[in-house]
Amino acid sequence: MKKIKVLISSTKIKNKVTKIAQQINKDFKNKKLVVVSVLSGSVVFCSDIIRKLSVDFEIDFIRVASYKGKKSSGKIKFLCDVVEDIKGKDILLVEDICDSGRTLSYVKDLFIKRKANSVKICTLINKKVEKFKNIKIDYFGFEIDNEFIVGYGLDYDGKYRGLPYIGVI
Ligand code: IMP
Ligand code: MG
Repeated sequence: MKKIKVLISSTKIKNKVTKIAQQINKDFKNKKLVVVSVLSGSVVFCSDIIRKLSVDFEIDFIRVASYKGKKSSGKIKFLCDVVEDIKGKDILLVEDICDSGRTLSYVKDLFIKRKANSVKICTLINKKVEKFKNIKIDYFGFEIDNEFIVGYGLDYDGKYRGLPYIGVI
């Protein structure tokens, strides 16, 4: 494995997850919340978030991919769909990182087309880059410069997802 420089420690992530979950608990009281984990990167963040939720929710998964190595391919590969009926539900898309926003924009549009009652976006990391279609991020943990990061679910060619912190290679 290559050497990793810590960018965001596991303690900082833990504290931020608690804060985001508190906000979600406030905002989704009496809603039909469906947490949709955008696989694969969000698996760690999403499982930490849901364990802090006090509101009722269902969970579902959608799998898309756009990155090859350290670069976005610019195309979204749709790999696996949710199984629940989305109509009338309040969707919270949970992502590891929003870079250009192309992935989240694609998934959000899909759920709007399926007549979700509302679609909100929650990402642990928001990269400070120009966003596709000015996509609105409703909840985010950290903003970072445009660098390639790994850990806490984020990978480089499938590796490093299990690191408890976020680092730069
Ligand atoms: P976007 O569609 O450009 O916003 O890219 C989002 C997707 O690209 C994320 O869900 C990640 O899977 C991947 N990605 C973007 N930046 C990074 C990074 O720095 N490290 C690892 N994966 C990344
Ligand atoms: Mg992802």
